[in-house]
Formats: sequence, C-alpha cells, structure tokens
Amino acid sequence: MELFGYIAAHFAVIALIIFACAIFDASCQAAVRKIIFDTDPGTDDAMALMLALNSPELDVRAITVVPGNVTAEQGLENALRMVSLANRCDIPVAGGARHPLFQKLVTAEFWHGKNGLANIELPRSKCKADPRFGPDLIIELVHASPHEITLVPVGPLTNIALAVEKDPSIVPLIKEVILMGGSIKGGNVNAAAEANIYNDPEAAQIVFQAGWPLTMVGLDVGDKTLLGRKQLGQLASTHGPVNDFIYGVAKFLVELSEKFGDGGTPMYDPLAVGVAIDSTLVTAPAMHVDVETRGEFTRGETVANRRNEVERNVLRGDRYIIEGVDKVQPNAKVGVEVQADRFLQLFVSRIQGK
Ligand code: RIB
Ligand code: CA
Repeated sequence: MELFGYIAAHFAVIALIIFACAIFDASCQAAVRKIIFDTDPGTDDAMALMLALNSPELDVRAITVVPGNVTAEQGLENALRMVSLANRCDIPVAGGARHPLFQKLVTAEFWHGKNGLANIELPRSKCKADPRFGPDLIIELVHASPHEITLVPVGPLTNIALAVEKDPSIVPLIKEVILMGGSIKGGNVNAAAEANIYNDPEAAQIVFQAGWPLTMVGLDVGDKTLLGRKQLGQLASTHGPVNDFIYGVAKFLVELSEKFGDGGTPMYDPLAVGVAIDSTLVTAPAMHVDVETRGEFTRGETVANRRNEVERNVLRGDRYIIEGVDKVQPNAKVGVEVQADRFLQLFVSRIQGK
C-alpha cells in the first residue's frame, strides 16, 4: 500500500508542475536568448539571419553591419532589405566600421555574388537604418541588459573589437560571444587563415583575449555541415517570401560548391546561430586561442593550444633549458565536432513555409 501511495504522490507532483507551467508558461520555458547579430551579409549570413529571425529561442535585439564579404554600404543595404522581407523593421539595423582596423578590406563577391546576396534583387527595404554607430549600439544595449546579451558575430570582428576598445566595461556584462570564425585545422582563404579572422586579425586578437565567455564556431565544424541537394529539394517543396529567398541563396551556393567538386555548401554562419539556439549541436573543448598578426604565411591564423600548456625555457649560459611546464588559461570553447544532420533538419524546418 505504501509503494502505491508514493507512486500516486509522485505523479501528483508532476501533474502539478505541468499545470503550473501551463498557467505560468514563461517560468517554464527555456529562457529566450537575446542576441546582437553582427554580420557582413553575405549569402551564408543571410541564411543565418533568417534562421535567427524564425527561431523562438532567440530574440534579435539588433543587427550591426561590418565590412567583409561586401562593403559596409552594400552590407547595410542588404541587411535592411532582409529585415524588410522578414517584416522586422522593429529590429535596429546599424552600420558600423567602414574598413578593418589596420589593413585594406578584402571583399568576397566571388563567393557571394556581385551584391553579396547571390545576385538576388530583394525589394527595396521598408525599414530605415538606425542612426547609431554599430559598436555604440552594442555598448548601449549591453548596458541596458547586463548579463543578458549574447553577441553573435559572423563576419570580421572589427565592430566587436571597436566596442571593447571603446568601453571595456561591457566585457563582464556580456552573457556570451558565439562567433563564426577561425579554424584549428587550416584555413579557407589560404593554408592558415579563415576569412573572418583574415579580414581583421588585430580585431580578432582583441576579441579572443577580451576575457568573456567565447565559443568559436569555425571551419572545423562548418566544413562538416554541408547543405546539399537533399535540403535544397526540401526548401523547393514549400513556399513563402523568406523560404523562396533562402532557396535562391542556397541554390546559388550549392551550384557554386559543385563547381569546386564539393558535396554541398558549408553552413558557416547559420551554424553559429544554431549553437546560440542549441549549444549541444557541437562539441567544443576549452582551449587557449591566439590570433597570429605577424606571420608571413600565417597572418590571421587562430592558433589553438589544445593542451593549455607551455614549456618553460630558462636561459642558462649560452642556451635555454626546459625547466618545467606552465598552464595557460583557456579563453575559448572551440567547436571540433558537430551533429550536422540534426542542425540541417533544424535549419530547413525553421525556413520552410516562412
Ligand atoms: O569563412 C567563412 C566566413 O567568411 C563566413 O562568415 C562567410 O560569410 C564569410 O564572412
Ligand atoms: Ca559572414
């Protein structure tokens, strides 16, 4: 009789929790993550933005534009047209830096089309640009919502670095930085560097050394997350303004990837948004990462210390002698494995029919 009473009480408690959640829904839902999306739109940026705008787990508080795939002007125009297409003129869209901190900009129309959006001409935007400078908008929003904002940069890190340099007090107030960039197994612009880091290595080093919780969603996982003909067919089977736009972008990218013999297009930026939605999509061990800013062959490389250790060399006479091993503090969680199929299904499901 006693066991029966225990079981009955157990189920009564569960029923009570379900009832309470039904009544006070907000207290049971996983908290919605507030994000600031910093972007150089950009075809995969476009897919990332539309995933973010169509995911209830995320609340896009602002979009800041950085030069990278396209110029600052083109990127702002593209961002405004995309939020207009999504009927989200409520989201502030602000321009930011006009060029990298210490080098000329390298634009990537080769990979993204002349206008940066797969040569798709979206309708003119109904939305107006926010007059604030992107880094200032980031600073303002972070102070307005301390410990609540996640930064999701998916372009060069110029705006983020400018924000930190202008107001270092935002660092402890940021919930997390989840960035698309870097690689610990070689680059995509050359042997060593990934495009976002390559386009502003000094900015990237500032961001990686700032001291905030940082997750690096780099080539190591992006190159394992390929959208191919299967997903393209799924996106072709449904319709809506966002659905049809993203289908056009994805088709451009898949066809381009096939020209280079690849089995699909890497979902670099969308996966960073995916990790903001569900961090379990990737396995990301903690490592210390530095950004090379001087190497002749390696400028822009994210140099990861997998062991978080450095030998201690002590000068003894005419040579150094190894006299110990010192720990280094990890400063990033680096994505090394990904549940690619689960992410691709998530992506398609969020875009279909929108
Ligand atoms: O290396 C890939 C990154 O560079 C992506 O963010 C893509 O949009 C480009 O910016
Ligand atoms: Ca990008």
